[in-house]
Amino acid sequence: MKYRHGFHAGNFADVHKHVTLLSLIAALQRKDKGFLYLETHAGRGLYDLDSADTHQGAESRLGIGVLRGTASASPQIAAYLAAIERLCPRADESLLYPGSPLLAAQALRGQDRGWCCEIQAAECRALERALQHYPRMRGACTDGYAGLAAHLPPPERRALLFIDPPYEEQDDDLVRAIAGIDDALQRLANAVIALWYPIKDQPELAPWLTRLAARLAVPALVAELWLHPRDARIGLNGSGLLILNPPYRLDAEMQQWLPELGDALGAARQGGTRVQWIAHEQH
Ligand SMILES: C[S@@+](CC[C@H](N)C(=O)[O-])C[C@H]1O[C@@H](n2cnc3c(N)ncnc32)[C@H](O)[C@@H]1O
Repeated sequence: MKYRHGFHAGNFADVHKHVTLLSLIAALQRKDKGFLYLETHAGRGLYDLDSADTHQGAESRLGIGVLRGTASASPQIAAYLAAIERLCPRADESLLYPGSPLLAAQALRGQDRGWCCEIQAAECRALERALQHYPRMRGACTDGYAGLAAHLPPPERRALLFIDPPYEEQDDDLVRAIAGIDDALQRLANAVIALWYPIKDQPELAPWLTRLAARLAVPALVAELWLHPRDARIGLNGSGLLILNPPYRLDAEMQQWLPELGDALGAARQGGTRVQWIAHEQH
């Protein structure tokens, strides 16, 4: 595997993904009962935006670089920026960006716990170091789908699954992710599941979502943010999240904060945002 998330750390897709992740966790935490956080594709947990591993944070300049230091009207974006500031204070000389495992770890309460799986050994060792001060969140050097099978169903009977594949082989990653989701829902039907997907090729994406919607047995919505026309040949045009069994009112909250995030990241120029139910809309 050649994929290194470092090159993309803190880019607009990471920002979209991570604000969504923290809002999902906050929504689950409206109930006192603890839950299991399970991440299948964790990465290294912490990225140095001043290093060759991240191309000196080149992509982050159009992501977290735009947002940092700004004030946000929406509580979800403000909470994300506050978490970044807590984990990687700007007062430090270093220029760091936290990955999803660290962002989730700092948000867990005493009654919550988490496992993050990473398959590349060097990334996994870095992940374990990044998580060393968070005893409620464990790193596991294993295949993420094996991790799902090993930890579901949890004794808490509540779980948030976060699936963020690298899409080096786009079709293979989508097929594996959907098989993993099917298996996870068999083990825990009420699991809240978020799958990140790239918006690169609209003619392929639209029928994939339609086919998926037709066979889903649980409520599902998509939340997307794109900076370039959806079928531009740029590389990554946009960022999408498929959310299954979304917590109550998550859609309404997203309708508020996602356009604000899109505006802040420049989506108004050639892109856009959308939050849309694709199966079993909840009221
Ligand atoms: C997109 S990155 C994850 C970024 C991270 N979720 C974040 O937001 O900070 C995908 C990661 O998945 C890892 N990976 C690829 N296939 C995997 C598998 N089958 N199981 C676990 N990790 C895998 C890659 O090594 C890479 O670090």
